[in-house]
Amino acid sequence: MAKIPLLILSFLLLTLHSLSQNPNPNSAYEELKLRGFPVGLLPADVSSYSLNRTSGEFSVDLGGRCQLLLPPDNYLASYSRRVTGKLLDGRIDDLDGIKVRAFFSWWSITRIRSSGEDLVFEVGVASAKYPAKNFDESQECEGRRKKNRKVADY
Ligand SMILES: *[C@@H]1O[C@H](CO)[C@@H](O)[C@H](O)[C@H]1NC(C)=O
Repeated sequence: MAKIPLLILSFLLLTLHSLSQNPNPNSAYEELKLRGFPVGLLPADVSSYSLNRTSGEFSVDLGGRCQLLLPPDNYLASYSRRVTGKLLDGRIDDLDGIKVRAFFSWWSITRIRSSGEDLVFEVGVASAKYPAKNFDESQECEGRRKKNRKVADY
């Protein structure tokens, strides 16, 4: 008998939980596409995100730190548990939470711009340009459990 109220309670808690977080993490990738970016800028491990459509301010939760190798040069990239920034048309400003290992140190990517077929990654005053098609697919974070989530179809 005591099981029924508990069930209802869990259901209510689950409902509240899905209201405060986005119930469909996959749509974080759709938001990227809508603004002219390939989905592969984010790892395949988004657990929730929020986006203010007016200001473009976003926050993506990856459920933990995440490392992966970025194509085409296999730079090691490190994502913080939470990545924040401003998602605008063709620009991701005020980026915080993505670092790339190159020339023996870590560099924080501060802005990503879309420029024709290329993406321009800004690291302070320096920048590097790569074909956007290298980022058409989201990669799994290294050392995480495989998921069934398909992100390349958008
Ligand atoms: C979204 O951004 C706009 C413009 O900066 C701001 O006025 C508004 O309060 C923000 N909404 C939320 C829910 O933070």
